[in-house]
Amino acid sequence: MPIYGTRPEAIKMAPIVKELENSDLFDCTVVVTGQHREMLDQVNDLFDIVPDIDLQIMRPNQSLSGIMTRTIDGLDEIFKENRPAAVIVQGDTTTSTAGAIAAFYHGIPVVHAEAGLRSFNILSPFPEEANRKITSQVSALHLAPTGVSKQNLLTENTAEEDIVVTGNTVIDALLTTVGKKVPFSDPQLEELAASGRRILLVTTHRRENQGGAMQGVGRALARIAASEPDLTIVLPAHKNPVVREAVLPALEGAGNVIVTEPLAYGEFTRMLSLAHVVLTDSGGVQEEAPSLGKPVLVMRENTERPEAVTAGTVLLIGTDEERIVGEVGRLLHDDAHFNAMANAVNPYGDGRAAQRTVAAIAELLGVGQRIDEFGN
Ligand code: UD1
Ligand code: UDP
Repeated sequence: MPIYGTRPEAIKMAPIVKELENSDLFDCTVVVTGQHREMLDQVNDLFDIVPDIDLQIMRPNQSLSGIMTRTIDGLDEIFKENRPAAVIVQGDTTTSTAGAIAAFYHGIPVVHAEAGLRSFNILSPFPEEANRKITSQVSALHLAPTGVSKQNLLTENTAEEDIVVTGNTVIDALLTTVGKKVPFSDPQLEELAASGRRILLVTTHRRENQGGAMQGVGRALARIAASEPDLTIVLPAHKNPVVREAVLPALEGAGNVIVTEPLAYGEFTRMLSLAHVVLTDSGGVQEEAPSLGKPVLVMRENTERPEAVTAGTVLLIGTDEERIVGEVGRLLHDDAHFNAMANAVNPYGDGRAAQRTVAAIAELLGVGQRIDEFGN
């Protein structure tokens, strides 16, 4: 039983759902919490996944406790009637941790995909660092995307035989999607693609950046737009009204800024492949952009994804307005710096993570065996 609820979980769970559905070994019951509504449905539609159960928990401006309690309550009812051999949760959202806790309380083994990421700062990202640590405590099988994440789990005394290095399924999703070159539904984006102009692709949503820091991001973007007339900034705005209220006011009237609704995954990955530079606080985008050779400036003070920083394609720059303006300018005008960062690297996966995941679950349940790990 895969359980998920937000856009990034849906993208990263989709390859696993497909692999489970294609396997003779499992019956797969897909449960979504609906923590995100439109952004979740957009992904399920793209991958042709029709959830069996939808808890419909999203509320406007929902609280973390609300997400947690509505998910656990909803799953409690489901597990009484529909008791799976195992559940699989993904990553570090509140849906995933609530799903893990609810299953654990029912004595159902928890499989954790994307296990072992650590920023080592419990307050950043908030609440994700706490969420992922809690999920690790109650999981029976830990699917670490990389050797670094496996090592983090070992350091916390997780038994080595319960860890499998799979790669991240986001790379499976990316590789099956980006090559399709889907048309943009917004004609402005199709025109932009044809124009050959340089694109700065921006996404932002993190809770710890909301408020003053995000207003600064908006001001930085307005300054970059004004000083770089040959550049177009593309900002697919997260659905969260708190994010929109902080970032968008500073951008009103800027001619070379295109603000869109969240792009369907196929369109977003095409925009990623067209972008010159990526500016983001997203976890998933930090994993995808390096494999397309795009320099990524990460608007965070720390990251639980150090692999691409080490490889030199990701730079942590925080949310200071001056620093954002300076670092974007440097990438636009210093060719040596740009070339040093614009390397295609794949530290997060090779496209076979879902296959390894399903083989590891088969072994956990005594109906199959693991296959070779990622990076071996
Ligand atoms: C959530 C996750 C975060 C993940 C992010 C991905 C938690 C605590 N946070 O944060 O880890 O990185 O998703 O985007 O689990 N909304 C809509 N429609 C949508 C989605 C959101 O209207 O499709 C609005 C609602 O008003 C909702 C608000 O956005 O209350 C915030 O959504 P929520 O899931 O609580 O937080 P995110 O910041 O999206
Ligand atoms: N994404 C998308 N459309 C958009 C913006 C992002 O499909 O308009 C995808 C992106 O490719 C990545 C995922 O959403 O796979 C990241 O989600 P998000 O930034 O919301 O969450 P995080 O990864 O930070 O948890």
